[in-house]
Amino acid sequence: MLQKLFSYLIPVNIYKKKSDVSQSLEVTWNNGQLVLDSKNTNYSYGSLQRILRKGLKYIGFERIKRFENVLVLGVAGGSVIKTLVEEVKFKGKITGVEIDKDIVAIAEKYFGLSKISNLEIIIEDAFEFVLRTKDKYDLIIIDIFQDTTMPNFLFQDFFINHINLLLKVNGFILFNTMVINEKDNQRNAEYKSKFNGNYSLRMYPKVEVHNELFTIKKLS
Ligand SMILES: C[S@@+](CC[C@H](N)C(=O)[O-])C[C@H]1O[C@@H](n2cnc3c(N)ncnc32)[C@H](O)[C@@H]1O
Repeated sequence: MLQKLFSYLIPVNIYKKKSDVSQSLEVTWNNGQLVLDSKNTNYSYGSLQRILRKGLKYIGFERIKRFENVLVLGVAGGSVIKTLVEEVKFKGKITGVEIDKDIVAIAEKYFGLSKISNLEIIIEDAFEFVLRTKDKYDLIIIDIFQDTTMPNFLFQDFFINHINLLLKVNGFILFNTMVINEKDNQRNAEYKSKFNGNYSLRMYPKVEVHNELFTIKKLS
């Protein structure tokens, strides 16, 4: 409790671990809130949670409430899952896919993810999961970072086509990207051009400085 109070003055780190995927994983009290950071960026709770909450608002909390299945690629501390359960009041099934087992252990110990009864966490590379699963989803949240880097596969046709196959008609993709330089801008413009008239795509630039969000609805 003291650590939480103290964190209104300066951030108080309570756990740190080296990570192959994210360089380091840090659990810190910051302004009275427990957050999860990688070496160079916020992973969960903090700005990341605000960014994805905005994305969910663009899609509409009431609409999401009526969905049956949500897939979250990139779980980390699970802040978007908390937003879905506690704020949207989503009661359907949530499947979370996370490559790093150490992060899942942190999410369970510090952020109480094991208490969420409608959540299943699968420890696997999202790329492989997307290739093998036969399930269909109403909402697919793509939030995959290795520290500040986004793996290339996220922007390649092969992955995009597989994601589209997993999406139900009238379902949504919420894709969180980071845009730091002109190359990233170009990459996102190309990504946008890959969706034809069967999809309704919206781009939300500069959600908290460097993040650009996409919402993509499958029309038919
Ligand atoms: C920004 S964090 C996710 C935050 C989370 N969505 C939330 O709401 O709190 C990015 C996560 O992607 C995970 N990740 C990176 N590469 C991955 C991959 N190929 N498959 C699955 N997860 C991956 C990282 O380990 C990290 O936990």
